[in-house]
Amino acid sequence: MTNSAEPVRFPDSFIWGAATASYQIEGAAREDGRGPSIWDTFSRTPGKVHHGHTGDVACDHYHRYRDDVALMAELGLHTYRFSIAWPRVRPDGTGPVNPYGLDFYDRLVDELRGHGIEPIVTLYHWDLPQPLEDRGGWTNRETAEFFAEYARAVYTRLGDRVNTWTTLNEPWCSAYLGYGNGVHAPGRADAGAAFQAVHHLLLGHGLANQALRAAGASTVGITVNPVAVSPADPHSDADARAVHLVDGLQNRIFLDPLLRGGYPADVLDHMRRFTGVEHIRDGDEKIIGEPIDLLGINYYSPTYVAGRDGAPGSDAYPGTEGVEFVPPAPPLTDMGWQIQPSGMTALLEKLGRDYPGVPLMITENGAAFPDQPDAGGDQVADTSRIDYLDGHLRAAHAAITAGVDLRGYLVWSLLDNFEWALGYAKRFGIVYVDYLTQRRVPKASARWYQEVIRRNGVG
Ligand code: FCB
Repeated sequence: MTNSAEPVRFPDSFIWGAATASYQIEGAAREDGRGPSIWDTFSRTPGKVHHGHTGDVACDHYHRYRDDVALMAELGLHTYRFSIAWPRVRPDGTGPVNPYGLDFYDRLVDELRGHGIEPIVTLYHWDLPQPLEDRGGWTNRETAEFFAEYARAVYTRLGDRVNTWTTLNEPWCSAYLGYGNGVHAPGRADAGAAFQAVHHLLLGHGLANQALRAAGASTVGITVNPVAVSPADPHSDADARAVHLVDGLQNRIFLDPLLRGGYPADVLDHMRRFTGVEHIRDGDEKIIGEPIDLLGINYYSPTYVAGRDGAPGSDAYPGTEGVEFVPPAPPLTDMGWQIQPSGMTALLEKLGRDYPGVPLMITENGAAFPDQPDAGGDQVADTSRIDYLDGHLRAAHAAITAGVDLRGYLVWSLLDNFEWALGYAKRFGIVYVDYLTQRRVPKASARWYQEVIRRNGVG
């Protein structure tokens, strides 16, 4: 509950910020030479996105970035995590770099720095150039190589003013939702393709990490969405087996190659049910496992599973027949996601134990609620979001107290925005966006967060 618990204060060096992603906020989908991305194609495919919404206009951030940065400065953000649209920089994925696309990020970075806000760049937040998908997308090894070339081009332009680089955002979603069950772009539903995508995404990360470092980058990382998977019944062996399987598909398949030198044997066996593994070539795991400086963690909700004969499993996790995904228990957000701050503490502690030595940052955490402005249009009383954030900041603090090397926290999201297959129906912002007028109204949570940053803590 808001303000009902003891005050907590974070370490002096703790970094506070907010996050967004290119396709979700920029709009200007055809401007200054931007090419089509898989999300442009997908959102135009009937039935894929809520009410046929697209990112064509989104929050019009491309034109309003100055006002948006001013708002960030007013809130006192130390850092702003945004993503770069690959199709602006290299519209056909393989050909010449488009300088006008890079100009936008150049202006944005200058604007941020001019306000004392440190940029954190994500190179890939799901908007693959469509021409690369036409060549097989992430099922094609070449995409990983093109990604590294693109990373190098962005670094050449922005590397003198951007210190922190993250390669990918949530490769779990790109692979399993994009290629496994087709809920996200490019909308393919093929488990074998999903596992090929996992590997090429990781390889793309590794090659981009090498390219960025060779060019002089000091801080390079990746953002993943690991989950502390728990058994429905802590005493059941069947549930423990289900946890191990889902943990493998959600967490270890990404984190072990990144931080422990290679894929776990049980996960490789699981992949072989759906695809050969010849695409995992000798030397790839070494590239993927090169050191990173920061591991970004996106945390929203916990997962509980049970082992049950005949349970259908989840199409978001290929090969999980016999696993029951326990329906989320209230309280829930507007996404239907279970609210459980202690899940964040458990996850951070587990990561600190299982993958020691790499600094962590919460690169996304937040909640959708059906916010409405008051009659005057100037106030949005989003107390549920304040409660959510308050609880999760306390949970993050508990992990720090337990010894986890957590360096910062970025709220998802600065603005209400295009929530992928759910279009504009879900509002995650601490700032309300009226999509008809593009007016921004800081919600009560934005004012509350401003105070959190000022105090360096909650309560
Ligand atoms: C994450 C995505 C982000 C946003 C939030 C709600 O999985 O990285 O773009 O959609 O979920």
